[in-house]
Amino acid sequence: MAGGFDRLRFGRRFAATLAGATQLPLLRTGIHLGLFQTLRAPQPPDALAERLGLAADLVEGWLRACHAQGLLHRKDASYAITPFVRWLLDAPEAAALHATLDQVALAYGPRLDALGDLMKGAERPAYTAPDEALRVAAASRLIERRALRALGRIPGVSGARRILDIGCGHGTYLAGFLSRYRDAHGVGVEIDAEVAEEARRRLREAEVWRRAEVRTGDFRELQLPAGSHDLVLLNNTLHYFPPAERDALFRRVRGRLSPGGVLAIQTPVVSETATARAVGALANVAVFDLYLRTHHDLHGLPEPAELAEALRESGFAEVGEVAILPGGTARYVWGRAPR
Ligand SMILES: C[S@@+](CC[C@H](N)C(=O)[O-])C[C@H]1O[C@@H](n2cnc3c(N)ncnc32)[C@H](O)[C@@H]1O
Repeated sequence: MAGGFDRLRFGRRFAATLAGATQLPLLRTGIHLGLFQTLRAPQPPDALAERLGLAADLVEGWLRACHAQGLLHRKDASYAITPFVRWLLDAPEAAALHATLDQVALAYGPRLDALGDLMKGAERPAYTAPDEALRVAAASRLIERRALRALGRIPGVSGARRILDIGCGHGTYLAGFLSRYRDAHGVGVEIDAEVAEEARRRLREAEVWRRAEVRTGDFRELQLPAGSHDLVLLNNTLHYFPPAERDALFRRVRGRLSPGGVLAIQTPVVSETATARAVGALANVAVFDLYLRTHHDLHGLPEPAELAEALRESGFAEVGEVAILPGGTARYVWGRAPR
């Protein structure tokens, strides 16, 4: 039996678990209804409810709950946002942070609720929601600038002039790369026609369209010129390919690379380093891995060592890794084609 001290400790942890689960809807409501925005200046409950045309009793309850959870300050009868909420609203990556909250609530929530049934053998659903693609694209911008910097640290990448981006999504990496390296040319390949159209729009918006092309189709089937690219990107796309198909995928990529060209695979990694644990990233990436596995057409995250081995076996001459996030929960694993 737990002693008095443990009972207190476990009771606190239990309360924190409940609080964590309820913070998500409190935060999303505050963001989506403009409550936090209005609370940049202190407001009493009635004035806030009236200003936004919301139910006064629920607004009052929401304010008290947010205050109790450390999301709002209270002075006299008025509430205002804390520095944490201000950061959520004003950080340069605010849109990505909001998309991440939405993704956890709207996508992870229902899938993890079904985990028991899935474990008992229920059919795993397909990963197809179109609004999810938008959220995932917005959320992935959270690390995009760091990822582009990390990409530049892979030997040979800064000299690459012909880029192939497989599963280019909304084209933000291709646009970022072509904006950085003004004499580079890029081809994006995207299986989803609507997503590909959005990539074309973004490349035009970034004013790099004259040096870019987006092909709609499955990379495994598209005709692409052999030996014609210095750099192939697989950013956050490897988990769409079954592990049993990796060897064929890597050989196909190698065939599209020029001698000495580089394949750079960006992937989240369930990295059990102390840093990854300390910054809270380990828990998130482990849940992401579990979320992927709940779909019949997605696959768990790769182990970097296995990936490096698979690259060597499929004929890459040199392999290496570059961390994107501290603790290595996002990385580039790369391979160089023989010269
Ligand atoms: C998670 S998104 C990543 C998008 C982008 N690379 C990024 O990191 O932001 C993966 C993308 O790969 C595309 N995709 C999946 N399998 C593909 C295939 N076989 N050929 C081409 N695109 C594919 C998906 O439609 C999706 O847009």
